[in-house]
Amino acid sequence: MNDKKFYVSTPIYYVNDKPHIGHAYTTILADVLARYHRRLNVPTFFLTGTDEHGQKVQKAAEEHHMTPQEQCDSTVVRFQELWKKLDISNDDFIRTTNPNHQRVVREILQDLYDRDLIYKAEYEGHYCVPCERFFTGKDLEEGELCPECHRPTARIMESNYFFRMSNYQQWLIDYIETHPGFIQPAFRANETLGFLKQPLGDLCISRPKSRLAWGIELPFDADYVCYVWFDALINYISGIGYRTDEAKFRQWWPVSYHLIGKDILTTHTVYWPTMLKAIGLEMPQAIFAHGWWLTGREKMSKSRGNVVNPMAMCDKYGVDAFRYFLLAEMPLGQDASFTEDAFVGRYNSDLANDLGNLLSRVVKMTLRQTDGVIPAPEAYGDDEKELVAEIDQAVAELPRLLDEMKLNRGLETVMQAVRAGNRYLEKTAPWSLAKKGETGKLHTVLYCSAELLRKAGTLLHPVMPHKMTELLTALGLSGEAAANPAIAALKNGENVLSGKKMRDSGALFLRIQPAVPEVPAASAPTEKTSAAPAKASAPARSEAPAPVGVITIDEFFRTQLKTARVLTAERVKGADKLLRLQIEVGEETRQLVAGVAQYYTPEQMVGKTIVIVANLKPAKIRGIESQGMLLAAKHDGALKLVTVDGDMPSGVTIG
Ligand code: MSP
Repeated sequence: MNDKKFYVSTPIYYVNDKPHIGHAYTTILADVLARYHRRLNVPTFFLTGTDEHGQKVQKAAEEHHMTPQEQCDSTVVRFQELWKKLDISNDDFIRTTNPNHQRVVREILQDLYDRDLIYKAEYEGHYCVPCERFFTGKDLEEGELCPECHRPTARIMESNYFFRMSNYQQWLIDYIETHPGFIQPAFRANETLGFLKQPLGDLCISRPKSRLAWGIELPFDADYVCYVWFDALINYISGIGYRTDEAKFRQWWPVSYHLIGKDILTTHTVYWPTMLKAIGLEMPQAIFAHGWWLTGREKMSKSRGNVVNPMAMCDKYGVDAFRYFLLAEMPLGQDASFTEDAFVGRYNSDLANDLGNLLSRVVKMTLRQTDGVIPAPEAYGDDEKELVAEIDQAVAELPRLLDEMKLNRGLETVMQAVRAGNRYLEKTAPWSLAKKGETGKLHTVLYCSAELLRKAGTLLHPVMPHKMTELLTALGLSGEAAANPAIAALKNGENVLSGKKMRDSGALFLRIQPAVPEVPAASAPTEKTSAAPAKASAPARSEAPAPVGVITIDEFFRTQLKTARVLTAERVKGADKLLRLQIEVGEETRQLVAGVAQYYTPEQMVGKTIVIVANLKPAKIRGIESQGMLLAAKHDGALKLVTVDGDMPSGVTIG
């Protein structure tokens, strides 16, 4: 990738309907790439907008008893409002009804017509209204269905204008074959090459006004308007000054990435390159086609009523968590499944348990031990070196993974470092260091954990700008260092945190209690089940009375189950069944009296991760206070502790 500048575009969206998750995803992806490049000090331009001409918009206007322009003006606002809500940092927003864009389209049409690259001919073909495309008889499925959307096509015969696309077939094949990064992922390039195995026809670029009036009038024939795709693709150059601001255009063209969905591959990898070639412009550096979001395993569609509503998801769970989920969940170029269960699962594990928990432990410990002032570290031991290596790997890897469009993998490297941070706290046990008076080591642990969070927060900032500013502010940073942290500076490794005062601003990500599946499992807020702007933690309620002996989910969640680690264990004098345990629950140390002495020796207990009821009223057992209760299974004279399957820090909520 050319590292001197970064220009990224999204498709321009049709204004026949309100935005959905597919629109939100591409726009968030473009936003995150733009933000990363800005943080890496690469001059960046991010363009998005709306596609306002054509049959779809005209039809929607008729249905709503509006003029097409009124339809555009009322729907464009919904996109602009959503982008505002989603913190989209586009540098410009292009509308194809904008006079400047229309002028550029007409100039290009005239130029191609003058050079005989556009000509008039009789045309007979099969037209698909929803796709706004002509197909030849051999393209059709079952003799009459559109090969793209599988709906019936209409047979149409009329005079039209054609762009000599066929001139460029061999040139395009050669270009794709000699430029491996041009169409990404690589399997999509093969798809286009497969398409180009058939003879490439010329492209019909006009519509008679008698059939469709809503479009840009052809400069050389007032009876016709321009085909909506020919008009729309030109936004990528008219939006950066082509034919109006040459200096600006030269600064940004060629585009670094056209981000598109897999369904608009042919228009972007066949029509657009041949149009650019005819105009005489450089090719895009890369066209990246992402997969589709499915609802569970089903295609999203209005008729099924399963289209996920991005506004409702943000109202319910917060913008940053929604942005994080979409990027972390969709692998390079593949389809991904959206369910609210998957959302809640990833939110709780990555954001609440790993990242939020680490921040809260580090802030609380520092407030308690050094009055919130981040200390200077002493010499690093092996644990610190390992920790630094883990986060520095994320610092080094992330730009490479971004260049390869493996955003989900990039985020995973950061989360791995965050998990290493939680393990580091378990291992170094700073609360015990404080008790033992090992101040030097304690300071090193506090500093290193804070530094890890600073780097992770900076790396994650483009994905979760608000939450990561909150995190950096909690670490005592302010101004640009918190609002616009520089990724490029992370490599310098200087100590910017020592002496800063931490602030406890509460939980960064409140844990979400999974809702009871009253309605079919995995229901995300869709058009039919618009989400109530509920608090993240409020579980769904069932109105029907519970059968005797059955508790509600609310009742269950009143019991706080947590993981805990046994630090010390000793027998209680005069009570052969009891052990007195000191346990670590997150950064807190508690005392527990447990009736397990006949099954476990004190030595066997130390180091174990157990499960406790953390909100049990403290009680005195044989005069010793017990702050909670451990869980165990007892059967046939045997007793086994309840524990978790694998490595887990202490203090983690179970449920
Ligand atoms: N107006 C054209 C694009 C012109 S670009 C010069 C268009 N608009 S659209 O509004 O119908 O779709 C825009 C994008 O949304 C496409 O990239 C499409 O792939 C994407 N998505 C629509 N549904 C989607 C999902 N369910 N999942 C992911 N993206 C999908 O096409």
